[in-house]
Amino acid sequence: MSGGHTLATEIEGLVGECESLLGQASSFEALEALRVEFLGRKGRLAAVMSRLPGLEPEERRQAGAAANKVKDTLGALYLKRQDALARQAETAMLAAFDATLPGRAPAAGSLHPITIVTGEICTVFRELGFDVVTGPEIETDFYNFEALNFPPEHPARDMQDTLYITDATLLRTHTSPLQIRTLESTAPPVAAVAPGKVYRRDSDLTHSPMFHQIEGFLVDREVSMADLRGVLTYFLHAIFGRDTRVRFRPSFFPFTEPSAEADISCVICAGSGHAGTDTCRVCKGTGWVEILGCGMIDPNVLAAVNLDPEEYSGFAFGLGVERVAMLKYGIGDLRLFFENDVRFLAQFA
Ligand code: DAH
Repeated sequence: MSGGHTLATEIEGLVGECESLLGQASSFEALEALRVEFLGRKGRLAAVMSRLPGLEPEERRQAGAAANKVKDTLGALYLKRQDALARQAETAMLAAFDATLPGRAPAAGSLHPITIVTGEICTVFRELGFDVVTGPEIETDFYNFEALNFPPEHPARDMQDTLYITDATLLRTHTSPLQIRTLESTAPPVAAVAPGKVYRRDSDLTHSPMFHQIEGFLVDREVSMADLRGVLTYFLHAIFGRDTRVRFRPSFFPFTEPSAEADISCVICAGSGHAGTDTCRVCKGTGWVEILGCGMIDPNVLAAVNLDPEEYSGFAFGLGVERVAMLKYGIGDLRLFFENDVRFLAQFA
């Protein structure tokens, strides 16, 4: 039996074997393995071909022709199977894909409630002609205390637990320093609100070491307590609604004289003091909640910015933004503002 005949038969045998294996290949990986096994550089067809040079010329011609034919046939079978697998994969993908499902909207962020409330408050005052000013969170003792009529060693400094950086620099404990900074650089008439972060050494259920305040002030000739009451009542009605009642109680702050605190009728129990048969937990049954501190700017503060208290007068006020937001939205826990849980934040979108 001639070697050429054997080789040609062997070569043709590869077609049948490869064809049935290709038919069983159920993945692209299996298909690739077969391509390597039969058609690869060190594959079975190549192994057969490597024996051609040892044959007689006529046999070599026959076996070579058979090998080329087989190579084309196997190549075509490979492509056919590859095509079939690709179509199978596509059909499976389309079957798993429900084209009737609604699309997924891109996730959109929303403003933090503190940002929203700060914006609303500033808008009310902007419409009244107030400027919006900001200043540094790292302050000097002068701006945070001394110019605001807290003399060194004055016990009023104990009202606030201060985070000091050095003896003379600190994290501002309130936004009142903006009274000084603004009046230093702007001649009356001046009206401004100053929103921003403030810091105190306080951390428990109802106190955060960082929170937000808005300071406001107006300085001109002949500003009176009546102006203070008119502006603040208008403001509180704008934020909490016209049905909200407002009252002013005497109080004390070093930088105002006289000083007052403003209360609004409790927004949770509408001033009734109770929730059903229970005592209202927000106003503790009083029907009122404290909302801001205010007063006529102390003559010493005006003098600290070189304004003559005989010529000028003004009022100032300060409020906590978290407190306003809690009352406005009925939020019971201060910590929700700082945890940044999207389930909370998304409710303000
Ligand atoms: N600075 C005060 C505080 O942080 C708040 C305040 C009270 C500001 C009365 C004022 C004011 O301008 O008149 O507690």
